[in-house]
Amino acid sequence: MAIAVKKLRHDSCQGQQEWLTEIKYLGQLCHPNLVKLIGYCLEDKNRLLVYEFMPKGSLDRHLFEAGDSTFQILSWDQRIKVALSIAKALAFLHHEVHAIHRDVKTSNILLDLNYNAKLSDFGLAKDGSVNSRSHVTARVLGTEGYYAPEYMESEPTSRPTMKEVVEALEKLQEPNENEGSSDRVSKSKSNKMQYATQPCRVKPNSYPA
Ligand SMILES: Nc1ncnc2c1ncn2[C@@H]1O[C@H](COP(=O)(O)OP(=O)(O)OP(=O)(O)O)[C@@H](O)[C@H]1O
Ligand SMILES: [Mg+2]
Repeated sequence: MAIAVKKLRHDSCQGQQEWLTEIKYLGQLCHPNLVKLIGYCLEDKNRLLVYEFMPKGSLDRHLFEAGDSTFQILSWDQRIKVALSIAKALAFLHHEVHAIHRDVKTSNILLDLNYNAKLSDFGLAKDGSVNSRSHVTARVLGTEGYYAPEYMESEPTSRPTMKEVVEALEKLQEPNENEGSSDRVSKSKSNKMQYATQPCRVKPNSYPA
């Protein structure tokens, strides 16, 4: 079995906490769209994480470095498949585990040989019920630009939940002989889904801590 080993920097004060958080979440969770953590190791100051190897690498390479022989340009159907896979992973986290990832970005989305996508890097993840806003921090954490719709401070009901995003993406995947997926994308946009695609500015003091 091929593996990927990540060695955390030992000069980072965040390293220990992120290493433990990764083990806490990925060491226990099992979902087809979460990358598998196979093992971990701490020796002196060296902290290692051992994952299943994802042969097609991370999504960012296919989006921003595509075109050469290493990273192919993804088709619409492949893009929808990736989006659906990650929406399923997030729906599982939000609704069943009650956790927020807080670092969803293309370099943390990994692809297997068949372009099935899995979410990785749980070092910034946090427990938290969707309905609870008791834990709030004054500093921005995780990836700027990403905010789980369930945790929106304003108009929480006008944005779709991850479950609704999964349903919408599953409709886009339904085969239709007469139209390509880009046609299905433009036809199926409900108001709520259109709203979900608008840029969302993160307020630092509204991030769950
Ligand atoms: N399990 C894996 N299988 C194959 N490639 C991987 C795996 N995990 C990570 N990678 C590759 O290694 C790169 C670096 O990953 P790493 O998580 O260290 O940094 P990053 O995601 O770019 O940034 P950050 O440190 O903010 O998460 C990823 O972008 C991906 O291309
Ligand atoms: Mg990463």
